[in-house]
Amino acid sequence: MTPDDLRKLIRDIPDFPKPGILFRDVTTLIGNGPGFAAAVRLMTDRVSRSGATAVAGIEARGFIFGAAIAARLELPFVPVRKPGKLPVPVLAMDYALEYGTDTLEVDPGAVADGASVALVDDLIATGGTAKAALDLLRQAGADVSRALFLVDLPDLGGAEKLRASGVEVEALIA
Ligand code: PRP
Ligand code: HPA
Repeated sequence: MTPDDLRKLIRDIPDFPKPGILFRDVTTLIGNGPGFAAAVRLMTDRVSRSGATAVAGIEARGFIFGAAIAARLELPFVPVRKPGKLPVPVLAMDYALEYGTDTLEVDPGAVADGASVALVDDLIATGGTAKAALDLLRQAGADVSRALFLVDLPDLGGAEKLRASGVEVEALIA
């Protein structure tokens, strides 16, 4: 299955979660066994080539892809969590979304000294989420030189924003 085949498995939902937003829904892709497997395989190849020593995923949809990639490569998985979920004092950052605001949190002890972390999520839109995750992981001591997404929405400028922070950004589908 090619990235173009994967694109066809993503469902477009108009006016979700707010009027005027065209929501690209990966539920239909992960609900297709060969499609999900191909997406994980293609993303895993890219993380493997990058030489990353750990994979960070952003809750919730970034966990689906990030954890699968980490397991295939036998690398540690670092969860970047929504607020109030981690049972330890956390590093926290607020950020703006295309459709609201939220907070992300990281366990400051979750990253090994000198780890080279690949940041993974299902989708980058404005880049607010990924930038907050990047800043938190760097505060936790990670070297984050690469971010990988299944989908980039280039019109929203998120990938460019991350590149301006010194990260190589890749996506299977734009
Ligand atoms: C979505 C998506 C990314 C983020 C992208 O997550 O999974 O994490 O938005 O948007 P941005 O580039 O404009 O920041 P959402 O916050 O909807 O949470 P979910 O994964 O828990 O559904
Ligand atoms: N789909 C899924 N997640 C998103 C989107 C979208 O279109 N925009 C911002 N986060």
